[in-house]
Amino acid sequence: MATTCTFTLFLSLTFSFFILSCASSEADILLTFKASIQDPMNHLSSWSNNTSTHHCNWTGVTCTASLSSTIFSLNLQSLNFSGEISSSICKLPSLTHLNLAGNLFNQPIPLHLSQCGSLETLNLSNNLIWGTIPDQISQFGSLRALDFSRNHLEGKIPEGIGSLKNLQVLNLGSNLLSGSIPLVFANFTELIVLDLSQNAFLISEIPSDIGKLYKLEKLLLQSSGFYGSIPETFVGLVGLAILDLSQNNLTGGVPQKLGFSFTNLLSFDVSQNKLSGSFPNGVCNAKGLINLSLYTNFFNGSIPNNSITDCLNLDRFQVQNNVFSGDFPNGLWSLPKIKLIRAENNRFSGEIPDTISLAAQLEQVQIDNNSFTSKIPQGFGMVRSLYRFSASLNGLYGEIPPNFCDSPVMSIINLSHNSLSGRIPELKKCKKLVSLSLADNSLVGEIPSSLAELPVLTYLDLSENNITGSIPQELQNLKLALFNVSFNRLSGRVPFSLISGLPASFLQGNPGLCGPGLPNSCSDDNQSHKMVGLSKLVSALISIALAVGILIIVAGIYVMRRYTKWKSQMGIWRSIFFYPLRVTEHDLIVAMDEKSAVGNGGVFGRVYIVSLPSGELVAVKKILNFGSQSLRAEIKTLAKIRHKNIIKILGFCHSDDAIFLIYEYLQKGSLGDLICRPDFELPWSVRLKIAIGVAQGLAYLHKDYVPHILHRDVKSRNILLDSDFEPKLTDLALDRIVGETAFQSSLASESSFSCYTAPEYGYSKKATEQMDTYSFGVVLLELVTGRQAEQTESGDSLDVVKWVRRKINITNGALQVLDSKISDNSQHEMLGALEIALRCTSVMPEKRPSMTEVVRALRSLDSKTSLPNIEFSTDVQHQSEL
Ligand SMILES: *[C@@H]1O[C@H](CO)[C@@H](O)[C@H](O)[C@H]1NC(C)=O
Ligand SMILES: *[C@@H]1O[C@H](CO)[C@@H](O)[C@H](O)[C@H]1NC(C)=O
Ligand SMILES: *[C@@H]1O[C@H](CO)[C@@H](O)[C@H](O)[C@H]1NC(C)=O
Ligand SMILES: *[C@@H]1O[C@H](CO)[C@@H](O)[C@H](O)[C@H]1NC(C)=O
Ligand SMILES: *[C@@H]1O[C@H](CO)[C@@H](O)[C@H](O)[C@H]1NC(C)=O
Ligand SMILES: *[C@@H]1O[C@H](CO)[C@@H](O)[C@H](O)[C@H]1NC(C)=O
Ligand SMILES: *[C@@H]1O[C@H](CO)[C@@H](O)[C@H](O)[C@H]1NC(C)=O
Ligand SMILES: *[C@@H]1O[C@H](CO)[C@@H](O)[C@H](O)[C@H]1NC(C)=O
Ligand SMILES: *[C@@H]1O[C@H](CO)[C@@H](O)[C@H](O)[C@H]1NC(C)=O
Ligand SMILES: *[C@@H]1O[C@H](CO)[C@@H](O)[C@H](O)[C@H]1NC(C)=O
Repeated sequence: MATTCTFTLFLSLTFSFFILSCASSEADILLTFKASIQDPMNHLSSWSNNTSTHHCNWTGVTCTASLSSTIFSLNLQSLNFSGEISSSICKLPSLTHLNLAGNLFNQPIPLHLSQCGSLETLNLSNNLIWGTIPDQISQFGSLRALDFSRNHLEGKIPEGIGSLKNLQVLNLGSNLLSGSIPLVFANFTELIVLDLSQNAFLISEIPSDIGKLYKLEKLLLQSSGFYGSIPETFVGLVGLAILDLSQNNLTGGVPQKLGFSFTNLLSFDVSQNKLSGSFPNGVCNAKGLINLSLYTNFFNGSIPNNSITDCLNLDRFQVQNNVFSGDFPNGLWSLPKIKLIRAENNRFSGEIPDTISLAAQLEQVQIDNNSFTSKIPQGFGMVRSLYRFSASLNGLYGEIPPNFCDSPVMSIINLSHNSLSGRIPELKKCKKLVSLSLADNSLVGEIPSSLAELPVLTYLDLSENNITGSIPQELQNLKLALFNVSFNRLSGRVPFSLISGLPASFLQGNPGLCGPGLPNSCSDDNQSHKMVGLSKLVSALISIALAVGILIIVAGIYVMRRYTKWKSQMGIWRSIFFYPLRVTEHDLIVAMDEKSAVGNGGVFGRVYIVSLPSGELVAVKKILNFGSQSLRAEIKTLAKIRHKNIIKILGFCHSDDAIFLIYEYLQKGSLGDLICRPDFELPWSVRLKIAIGVAQGLAYLHKDYVPHILHRDVKSRNILLDSDFEPKLTDLALDRIVGETAFQSSLASESSFSCYTAPEYGYSKKATEQMDTYSFGVVLLELVTGRQAEQTESGDSLDVVKWVRRKINITNGALQVLDSKISDNSQHEMLGALEIALRCTSVMPEKRPSMTEVVRALRSLDSKTSLPNIEFSTDVQHQSEL
């Protein structure tokens, strides 16, 4: 019954248009070009010889203004095109600009476009272009602008690129390029924009010959793998306006003369590296400087006031998370354009001057965790644009001026852990105030009842002061998520809604307070009955919800069992292969027997290892065909994904009953299989590599791939390992193949259903990225603890999330959950990973980090010297309280 599979090879299509070569009119050339393009929204309807419109007036076409009016530019960006970029377009003799950015072209770099003799601009940004950049890229010698950004290019940047001597713009940003960069940049004497940013695998020193590009205006190297120092030669970049070296692995100092040579600089960003040494004096030599970002490095020494006062256009000043010391540059506070000052987590001393009132555009100030010794000046209250002021953990003293919250947009104030004294002023004007923390000062007097008139106040922390009097009844009107008045000298009855809705610890240390649940009950107390009633109701509702949930799962299992009775394996087969697999589905069926089956079979069907006639091994997954309408389109969408951490789909065959998905075969099997072996013993570096790989794969699916895809079944059994332990995600987005209903009932039938599934899955209809993040967090916990996601312990089956959360609540608990088979040397990194895993498995979906953030956090663990990433760890502490 089996028919031979049809081979659809993407590559072979490339050749089909070389045949047409007769001289034809420009309109005909355009029509030929159109014929190879798939245009689902029919944006090219005007491209037709039926209409009377001249082809110069067709969509995206621009002709020269001269009488001959030949085509000069084609701008076809963001039109959802796919198909082939045909070289037929090169028959247009004057085509100078070709922009196909923002489409869905899924192919290697179309080298044949080098036949376009007049082409100066080639823009293929934001497509699905894959493969390496071949050395023959040199054939594009006439190009002035080359934009391949936001594609899936991989491999090294070839030497041949050095021949593109006319380039003014070279953008290879947001790809998967790797290796080191060839020393060819001195050839790009005309270059104005160079963008190699967001190539995480580009592990390279910054080529020093970039310093010869004196015409360069934009240099964007951020978020790649650059290491080593900033080349001294950069002083030659005299035309530079924007320098972004952030989020790399750079070390050493900023070359001393650098600041002085950049007179046109607008933005200087070297944040999130491992740079050290002193502040780059002279950056304000560039009078136009707008952004100055040095944060999260190891810069030390002081910042001289005179190095800042010339920065009259400075808008953002960010030096947080370094080891700067000395007096904070006073001039900064009164710069006319300054909007953002971030200097937290340093050792700055000094005062906040009254001249802060001159900073008429100041919006945000964060100077927490320094050694400022200062009063809060009157001038502070006169800055009407200020919406965030955070100066905790300093030596601020004196009284809080009555106008300090006069800014009509003020939203967050944190003055905790200082030495402020006096009373809390009446706050009436800051109607937008959301958070006020004055904890751990020496404030006296009463809690002003006017606080209750701030309609959006949500977080109020007045703990550890000397506040007296009673808690104003009016505060019950606020929707407070946090109200901490512990360790003061408050007295009297606690308003009912505050006592019932908030932890008792927020009231402790006030011997004079009374009310239900407190050590002192008020003399006339009778309200506690209400609360007991309420909590009974809540627990009853929870039990009902649980019972319903269990019923649904049981029903799901039943339905699935019924389905799984195979009828017949034969039928009419149709196949699509994305790689030249010389096999028929008959061969496959014959080869798929008990012997070739691996594992106990996932919920969606078993996997078989099949040896092709060529000797090559492939993995074949057999899935029930639930009759999805768009089966082929969906599998093709998945097959187009090219990422080193996602398994490749080599092809598929389907009949009315079944679908065979053919995947590349990985010899090491799945992470899940490894973990459940009693002798499971991967070293930490390998586990971290696996975690980073999986996170990268998910981040790619969530953010980079178009259309965005959710995995929906992340678990260690769906993480395959190649011979280098590089992980690859498999079984992704099966919902798209089998349909949502079948997907959900299959998933529900899985025994370990609950462990990897985010808690909100039960009540939220829509699958979300955060659910994938949760499941990833469970896998990360497995890696950190060495335990399976679900493990039975003295008869009790306990999922790893609950197990870890129970343990870490006790002293030294975090250390106890780490896999004891791993040496203590890795403890620091493992604790870091544990923190990340806890965030990922947070009960509240909105608290979970995005997978992109997870990748970044995991990568920053991947070195012995961890960054002073203080913001992150404090967040985690709050998180683990959940
Ligand atoms: C449009 O042009 C094609 C060739 O480019 C030609 O075969 C076709 O007949 C033309 N159609 C009309 C309606 O002129
Ligand atoms: C051109 O005209 C013919 C007949 O009028 C019509 O069948 C065809 O669909 C038209 N083609 C386009 C591209 O509009
Ligand atoms: C394009 O259309 C405009 C008006 O819409 C017309 O003035 C112009 O002559 C047309 N150009 C050509 C080359 O037909
Ligand atoms: C591209 O396709 C998407 C989804 O198919 C659609 O929402 C969008 O409007 C399309 N864009 C254009 C410019 O056609
Ligand atoms: C390429 O097109 C994209 C999308 O329109 C645009 O943002 C980018 O600036 C273009 N690149 C060049 C070099 O012009
Ligand atoms: C620079 O350009 C010259 C041609 O002018 C070429 O010979 C040389 O190989 C190029 N350098 C690099 C490193 O590609
Ligand atoms: C940073 O560089 C060091 C050596 O210079 C290397 O060991 C480490 O892996 C690098 N880290 C990242 C995240 O690239
Ligand atoms: C300065 O930084 C802001 C925010 O990061 C950004 O929007 C702006 O474009 C930057 N300005 C320049 C000149 O780079
Ligand atoms: C900055 O740190 C370096 C070592 O990292 C040290 O030699 C130097 O003395 C420090 N400078 C200041 C001003 O603390
Ligand atoms: C509170 O006041 C008492 C006496 O007035 C004083 O001894 C104590 O140090 C004060 N506590 C704080 C935190 O200021």
